[in-house]
Amino acid sequence: MANKSVSNTNEIKSLWPGQSMDLLKSLHILTRDGALNQDSRRKLKQVQHLVQFLTPQLEGLKTIADLGAGKSYLGFMLYDLWMRGVDESHLFAIEAREDLIATCRKIAADSGFDRTTFVQSTILDASQNTELPEAIDAVVALHACDTATDEAIAFALKKDAKFIALVPCCQAEVARLLEEKEMNSTVGRSLWRHGLHRREFGSHLTNVIRALFLESRGYKVRVTELIGWEHSMKNELILATKIQKGNALAKSHLDNLLHEFPVKMKLFELVD
Ligand SMILES: C[S@@+](CC[C@H](N)C(=O)[O-])C[C@H]1O[C@@H](n2cnc3c(N)ncnc32)[C@H](O)[C@@H]1O
Repeated sequence: MANKSVSNTNEIKSLWPGQSMDLLKSLHILTRDGALNQDSRRKLKQVQHLVQFLTPQLEGLKTIADLGAGKSYLGFMLYDLWMRGVDESHLFAIEAREDLIATCRKIAADSGFDRTTFVQSTILDASQNTELPEAIDAVVALHACDTATDEAIAFALKKDAKFIALVPCCQAEVARLLEEKEMNSTVGRSLWRHGLHRREFGSHLTNVIRALFLESRGYKVRVTELIGWEHSMKNELILATKIQKGNALAKSHLDNLLHEFPVKMKLFELVD
């Protein structure tokens, strides 16, 4: 089979001025020889785009939680490119899988990233974890599966986060709720009669509810595209910046929406 490596160390250096090559190797984005294959190029591009997009919005913030972190690509790259130069900044990464947390700890130790804490926990339980501070400035959750994004929203509210960035992942909960729902309205029947439409509509409705909910809790919300479809099928980026205590108009819009589509999402069980 042909060698899939499509780049070399020099090219990577030009993509990431000042970035640790050792970190990229630890994350298996680069091979030991400093080459980049097509799959890791895709991952690199995605995280690179997100880091570039997020860093201006993290101005003045010090603590960041990466939720459903996986190998914490995003957290590590934020640390490497931005937090290194920010005094007293700290990265917290929460991940359910113990093996991934062990990998993250090793990468952090090898990279000399000492202002980091890795917690093996569900996002839900992490809200109560005393290893974590009571307040955290920024919360990111990249492709946190299904309702883990809702756990991330609840976590962010509990920690009084000033900034939240969510890239929701596969979304099954609302499609399931729609299926269970009595289809006594023609609109409902038409919108989610077919399984594929139900999944797409369920996913769309979920993210609309999440965005409105955050607005009702005083966040200014922007929904945008993470990166072109060629890189990922899940590319909706929800950005929320806390600007006020609450927003009664957004709350009434949310109530109206939930009146039309009464889906009892887990999100509402998780928040006060
Ligand atoms: C699709 S991966 C994304 C990983 C990483 N954020 C990224 O984009 O590369 C989702 C990760 O979230 C973790 N996860 C799923 N549900 C979780 C939960 N409720 N609490 C904590 N971690 C969770 C999974 O173990 C997995 O590592």
